Amino acid sequence: MASNAGLAKANKAKKDEFYTQLADIEVELKHYKKHFKGKVVLCNCDDPYESNFFKYFAMNFNYLGLKKLIATCYDSSPIVGEQLSLFPDKRPYMIQITEVIDENGDGAIDLSDVEYLLKNKKNTIRKLNDGDFRSEECVELLKEADIVCTNPPFSLFREFVSLLEEHRKQYLIIGNVNAITYKEIFPLIKDNKLWMGYSIHSGDREFRVPEDYPLTAAGCRIDEQGRKYIRVKGVRWYTNLDYAERHCDLDLWKKYTPEEYPHYDNYDAINVDVTAEIPEDYYGEIGVPITFLDKYNPSQFDIIRFRKGNDGKDLCVNGKCPYFRIIIRRKQNGN
Ligand SMILES: C[S@@+](CC[C@H](N)C(=O)[O-])C[C@H]1O[C@@H](n2cnc3c(N)ncnc32)[C@H](O)[C@@H]1O
Repeated sequence: MASNAGLAKANKAKKDEFYTQLADIEVELKHYKKHFKGKVVLCNCDDPYESNFFKYFAMNFNYLGLKKLIATCYDSSPIVGEQLSLFPDKRPYMIQITEVIDENGDGAIDLSDVEYLLKNKKNTIRKLNDGDFRSEECVELLKEADIVCTNPPFSLFREFVSLLEEHRKQYLIIGNVNAITYKEIFPLIKDNKLWMGYSIHSGDREFRVPEDYPLTAAGCRIDEQGRKYIRVKGVRWYTNLDYAERHCDLDLWKKYTPEEYPHYDNYDAINVDVTAEIPEDYYGEIGVPITFLDKYNPSQFDIIRFRKGNDGKDLCVNGKCPYFRIIIRRKQNGN
């Protein structure tokens, strides 16, 4: 079974246990340092004993200049790690970190486990009712937070983003590329309130899965310690934190010809199959694949609409449907 099918199955079964690798978090987070100084960060789908999001922010607490780090753990998240010696029968819980002491003063914090942090009495652990990010107690923590950073359950992605938007939070989260097409998500992208993160634009990424996860997919592996991993396609970072690289123009080089860029039957726009082939001399509306958003610079293009023609049906050319496209237009003053 291909890993895409594995993800679909996970969605269907609401099997949400994919644990993000530290290296993937580091590669993305290094583009946002300026946003974190003096901020409260919440990882609200994260067992601190398991989560590399928690680990990343704890390790970089002083480097980023954080005010506070909060992680909340969901009641029914299975325990995949080797840890959990301190709080074994009290899940779910939350951890609050307000101070990380760099003991030898070398600027590097080497965290082997959560218990090291909890030796500092300024940091606390306490029990939650169920740790559901939608629960009253977790929403109270959300209100306190400035930035939410996590990989939320794939099956609750819409609800997760809607909650963050309702509370006007800044966020950097992982989701599937198909989420672009959701009716709760696309309008945010269109209105430039949400965009793709810096680092993942193609291929797949490896996630750790629980011990009992059936490893039938291609690209699965078990490491020397017996930990299981699967590779998942179509992963993206979603964020409303700005970063410099998203303001770089897409280089355009092809010239428009009516033969190469046919009009849709049911909408006044031309069809482009490959983002890199958007014609540089065309200022009307253009239909592009959703992966255009990996290159989208809001100073160069406007996003107009998604997928449907004037008749409310999928975009089509010479009767051939569907064209799953985003309609965009070059800004007149864009390059
Ligand atoms: C995709 S996993 C990612 C875990 C962790 N954030 C990471 O990146 O390694 C999503 C996690 O959210 C938990 N979860 C599922 N439903 C939840 C809910 N309603 N509230 C909070 N967490 C939930 C799952 O148990 C799972 O551990």
